[in-house]
Amino acid sequence: MRISMGSDHAGYELKEKLKKMLENEGYEILDRGCYGEESVDYPDYAKLVSEDILNGLADRGILICGTGIGMSMSANKYKKIRAALCLYPKMAELARKHNDANILVLGGRLISPAMAKWITDTFLKTRFEGGRHAKRVRKMESLGG
Ligand code: RB5
Repeated sequence: MRISMGSDHAGYELKEKLKKMLENEGYEILDRGCYGEESVDYPDYAKLVSEDILNGLADRGILICGTGIGMSMSANKYKKIRAALCLYPKMAELARKHNDANILVLGGRLISPAMAKWITDTFLKTRFEGGRHAKRVRKMESLGG
């Protein structure tokens, strides 16, 4: 599975830690930045990772900012992106089972690396249940302009 990852400066440290853990497990990572702790704008990285998903360059995305809120707001501007901000593994499980989330969003200032890894493992290993949830996901895509 190929994963596109992006963060702003507030998520940089967690991105680096999580990236190493995932690479050690054999995941292929596309690291879209940022590449240091200098202040940057989270929508720029949400765009890069979202476009990797939409262009078929990655199977899943992971975005990290301070709270995860700016990244999720930005990525969810794209109709076919379903970015889920998850604070607990259960949220990641249900974001995959019920919402078919294609991007996991984490808050680098809110959770530990160990919690981030647990949430990420759950996200990457859980399948969409389809059925009644598929109809709702299609309805989501029909909203807006
Ligand atoms: C950056 O200071 C911070 O605003 C950003 O990482 C994020 O939390 C925004 O939602």
